[in-house]
Amino acid sequence: MLGILVYLTTLVFTQNCSLALADQVVGPQINEEQSQIYIVLTNKPPAEIKISLQSWYRSFLPTTTSLSQQQQQPQIVHQYRNVVNGFAARLTAGQVKAMEDKEGFVSAQPESTFSFHTTHTPSFLGLLNNRGLVFWNQSNYGKGVIIGVVDGGILPDHPSFNDEGVPPPPAKWKGKCDFKSNHCNNKLIGARNLQRSSISEPPSDDSGHGSHTASTAAGNFVEGANVFGNAYGTAVGVAPHAHLAIYKACSLEVCKESDILAALDVAIDDGVDVISISLGPASVTVKPFYTDLIAIGAFAATQKGIFVSCSAGNNGPHHKTLSNEAPWILTVGASTTDRTIKATARLGNGAEYDGQSTFQPKDFNPTLSPLVYAGSNGNQSSALCEKGSLIKVDVKGKIVLCEKGGKVSRIGKGQEVRSAGGVSMILMNQEADGYSTLSDSHVLPATHVGYDSGLKIKAYINSTKDPKATILFKGTVIENDQSLAPAVAALSSRGPSKASPGILKPDIVGPGVSILAAWPFSVDNSTTSVSTKSTFNIISGTSMACPHLSGIAALLKSSHPHWSPAVIKSAIMTTADVVNLAGNPIVDETLSPADLFATGAGHVNPSKASDPGLVYDIEPDDYTPYLCGLNYTDKQVETITQRKVKCSEVKSIAEAQLNYPSFSLVLGPDQRQSFTRTVTNVGEANSTYTLEVSVPRGIGMRVRPIKLVFTRVNQKATYTVEFIARSRAGKDGNEEFGEGYLKWVSGKYSVRSRISVNFLMKFESISAL
Ligand SMILES: *[C@@H]1O[C@H](CO)[C@@H](O)[C@H](O)[C@H]1NC(C)=O
Ligand SMILES: *[C@@H]1O[C@H](CO)[C@@H](O)[C@H](O)[C@H]1NC(C)=O
Ligand SMILES: *[C@@H]1O[C@H](CO)[C@@H](O)[C@H](O)[C@H]1NC(C)=O
Ligand SMILES: *[C@@H]1O[C@H](CO)[C@@H](O)[C@H](O)[C@H]1NC(C)=O
Ligand SMILES: *[C@@H]1O[C@H](CO)[C@@H](O)[C@H](O)[C@H]1NC(C)=O
Ligand SMILES: *[C@@H]1O[C@H](CO)[C@@H](O)[C@H](O)[C@H]1NC(C)=O
Repeated sequence: MLGILVYLTTLVFTQNCSLALADQVVGPQINEEQSQIYIVLTNKPPAEIKISLQSWYRSFLPTTTSLSQQQQQPQIVHQYRNVVNGFAARLTAGQVKAMEDKEGFVSAQPESTFSFHTTHTPSFLGLLNNRGLVFWNQSNYGKGVIIGVVDGGILPDHPSFNDEGVPPPPAKWKGKCDFKSNHCNNKLIGARNLQRSSISEPPSDDSGHGSHTASTAAGNFVEGANVFGNAYGTAVGVAPHAHLAIYKACSLEVCKESDILAALDVAIDDGVDVISISLGPASVTVKPFYTDLIAIGAFAATQKGIFVSCSAGNNGPHHKTLSNEAPWILTVGASTTDRTIKATARLGNGAEYDGQSTFQPKDFNPTLSPLVYAGSNGNQSSALCEKGSLIKVDVKGKIVLCEKGGKVSRIGKGQEVRSAGGVSMILMNQEADGYSTLSDSHVLPATHVGYDSGLKIKAYINSTKDPKATILFKGTVIENDQSLAPAVAALSSRGPSKASPGILKPDIVGPGVSILAAWPFSVDNSTTSVSTKSTFNIISGTSMACPHLSGIAALLKSSHPHWSPAVIKSAIMTTADVVNLAGNPIVDETLSPADLFATGAGHVNPSKASDPGLVYDIEPDDYTPYLCGLNYTDKQVETITQRKVKCSEVKSIAEAQLNYPSFSLVLGPDQRQSFTRTVTNVGEANSTYTLEVSVPRGIGMRVRPIKLVFTRVNQKATYTVEFIARSRAGKDGNEEFGEGYLKWVSGKYSVRSRISVNFLMKFESISAL
């Protein structure tokens, strides 16, 4: 019935309208083609005709004539107002083709499948540093700021979402609560379900991910939080008195791009201040910004003064694995804290290898058991302890060495070991994951150890007829070795940016390993003797790092209401820590200093970010010359900016000329590149800054002027920096990178911009000619 109504509406409209768009194309044979959800972008409705957005979007759909076809009349599943001009609908390729000739059509692309940027593994808590406490108080715990969380819904009754000390929402708030009666409160001020597959249901959290990220950003104080009795203490989000607005776009099973875009669309309307997105494409892709719908949605948000923080992805440690890398987004990588829940593998020869596990049964008998390598049969699937792979391996009553990776989660490997009769598990890294381990709520006694330890355990198994091992559970430990905190997690996706190599990404790293936060269900397992009925859980991923930064942005917004998104980002980046607690460079999973494509500006330091001295602002309009400089067509730029752009009339700029708080250059042999930056004084009115530089190896740098003098707050100053490459030869295809920084220093402030240089090699074969 609805299909016919829609059809009639469209018909009425087309009859009353004399524009070219009125000539409807009859839909092709729907049955002959597979349909899928497309996101169709259009121009704005022409100003001459007064029609509703809905009628405008419907005018793009094919009309059908026969009754049987009417039943398959495409339905719009989302219509967008803020993020893009366009809609999502189920269409066939033929129907999309027919649409392309219509006046006002811009583009259509099948939606991608997205996923949470987390590994579904309970792990351990890392709270904010104490040094943030003074700033925390000064920023009123985020009071008055609204954080929109686009994620997997929420458990509204969770104690983390109590509203003690939280004032009513500000007058500008226009959102709604889709939960029945008093589930929402001054903390949880809105909750919407934008998932078309469950649109009539409340935005409940079936995965845990949504409650976890929301409570990390802005959970209120809850005493006595713990998981299996570990990490006992007060659980609290970064901005405990900020408001939360929840936009459910994903569930455990389904996470679709058009739903995420719809969530962003509604969040912009509702009046949120910060948007937190711990989601990304299910696989690593290269997408120019005009086809990257999170980038496009985030652009619309940024233009309205909304700060957008996104997870960088969990596809590390290899380079060029980032998602959410647009310059108007804060791209957040994941790092460790100084706490672990220690579980040590002890071998029959007395050797001990430290690892991690959240599930630490108090009644575990630490006598040695026979030890077996799951891959001893030479089968890779068995080595990875994949489902069903241990049926023919003799693991009964044994402690089993499994390898990380493959198609099964870390907890899933433990389940396989247990169902095959194993008593416990040692989980070893693959080589790429190095020393990076995670604390998981395994289903059996287990420990996760690094690659090196794993090799030594394998060698021990080879060296004796009767290998034995056990696990010693040591509980929550603040590590003595401060050179490991923070360290970049192996999983954290790395730059350089594929879509815009002239912008250094990720921007920042924050706590993302072993984070305790709210969970909608108990992680207790009937097979454990612990019965805490925990409603907190410990999980890891850039998904966990992102809401930390969203919370910090809320604190900054609360203490500096007039700061633009770019200023907040600049404050976070130029004040970040580049050394660990031991004062040495932050390391990665290899325990060597992490490169800039792992850390970006460094590890967030919230209290310093609240008083940065100088900031690099970017006006909403500044992105247009940047986008033209990416050599996008006018139409491609318009897809992002949502208004008419003629790049020929805009003075295009090189990517690295955007007023970004870091530098990323691609330098050819003998090339010189010059950029200007403008800083704004948000520190003391009368202040003088002098220059400090660390010149990347193998290039020259010239900065003019070398002193910046300010007499007023909000005064601006501009400087120029020239990078001069030396002639160099390298092997064909080799890439070489250099790192440095440029820092403006006054008595009180230090404003650092990190510099990454990608040297393009002069190929020997060419220079010989
Ligand atoms: C927090 O700030 C308020 C003023 O905003 C001040 O009265 C109070 O003493 C501060 N508390 C702490 C613990 O610093
Ligand atoms: C490895 O084991 C899996 C699961 O038992 C089995 O399906 C697969 O065929 C085996 N592969 C080889 C090469 O034997
Ligand atoms: C253990 O022995 C197997 C079979 O001889 C061999 O393939 C493997 O490389 C050895 N592993 C180590 C770590 O020595
Ligand atoms: C608890 O154990 C059951 C099997 O007894 C398993 O199916 C389930 O996944 C486990 N739960 C967790 C949270 O690990
Ligand atoms: C855009 O095109 C110009 C001129 O061909 C070129 O110099 C520049 O490197 C291109 N920029 C990008 C980002 O591809
Ligand atoms: C800054 O210095 C100037 C000249 O030294 C002085 O007139 C002015 O009052 C100072 N401003 C502030 C805010 O201290």
